[in-house]
Amino acid sequence: MNLTIPRLNLLFLLAWLALLLVTYLNSYDDPSSIFYRESRSYEQRYSRIRAHEADLYLADPPPKQPSPTEEDNKFLCIGIPSINRTTQSFLKHTIGTLVDTLTLEERGGIHLVVLLADRPARKHSAYGEEWLEKVVDEVLVYDDPPAEDEGKVYRKVPFELVEGRERGDGRVENMRLDHSLLVETCMNYGAEYFVLVEDDIVAGRDWFQRLRKGLGYATAMGFGLWLPALIALYFLSGRVSTSRVNPFMWTSHGVREMMNYGCCAQGLLFPKRQLPGVFKLMRYPPYRFPGDMILEGYAGDHGLRKWALDPSVFQHVGFTESSAGPRRAEVWNFSFERMQPKGWLWGS
Ligand SMILES: *[C@@H]1O[C@H](CO)[C@@H](O)[C@H](O)[C@H]1NC(C)=O
Repeated sequence: MNLTIPRLNLLFLLAWLALLLVTYLNSYDDPSSIFYRESRSYEQRYSRIRAHEADLYLADPPPKQPSPTEEDNKFLCIGIPSINRTTQSFLKHTIGTLVDTLTLEERGGIHLVVLLADRPARKHSAYGEEWLEKVVDEVLVYDDPPAEDEGKVYRKVPFELVEGRERGDGRVENMRLDHSLLVETCMNYGAEYFVLVEDDIVAGRDWFQRLRKGLGYATAMGFGLWLPALIALYFLSGRVSTSRVNPFMWTSHGVREMMNYGCCAQGLLFPKRQLPGVFKLMRYPPYRFPGDMILEGYAGDHGLRKWALDPSVFQHVGFTESSAGPRRAEVWNFSFERMQPKGWLWGS
């Protein structure tokens, strides 16, 4: 072919248009792009599928496996603090999506604990529900267990936790103390890792495989550098599509080192050896700052490295309830909605 200048121009134009089309199709959910379309990017495509799958699973869950007695089968302990929300409860979908894709063996290595922090506990819509009893290992409540607790999963825990100090009604104080109970429970259980999960997320189908893979990488890196590692599962929101289309940003292990928490981590994972320190931090005053903020300082003071799974394995489906009414949370994981039942549609 004889490439004259007009032909080259035409080729260039076509290539440019093709690139524009790809960018357009690929950037509707990137807030830093001019092609960003808010309504479409907040559409719950994948998370709605996952919620539906959770409902199906919880309608008839398989019988529970006996808890492992040997230490080496205690891989994860998951703690979920929950309070009743006035508009909508997400707890069922959080729990359902965490367990519905696990094999019996994988589920056997996980201890799942929920704290229903309302007082009285029956104010929580999940209290006494059959599905809850069937799928979780422990339900912590601040008052007496329901009469019909056949699975014996409910356990009453003390409300007053710090000697010589009456528990106040501040939001931060109560969140911190609720979290400290879950850290304590999992520390005593003795699992290798503790994961704190908020009660308004849904998990992707492959969250567990991705977590295991990421952990393998992060532990190897941590040991290699002789540094203890504080590992976090974390949300990345915004500035997503640049890393999505940049092949050099792609990793096989799916983990990134984080410089800052930023805010609002919906799921945090800690190795066992960090739990005594994290426990003290959560339990004792001053209660000026929420847990994720003080953890940031803690990690800095102790020279701990933090890692994030990227793309995130959780979506934050909750609403923030403000005086102006409920609205979509600011922490939204755009990439999550691109996941398809069979993997990813575009990019990584
Ligand atoms: C608990 O939450 C549900 C919605 O999830 C709501 O319908 C109910 O009124 C709430 N209960 C209380 C006591 O606030």
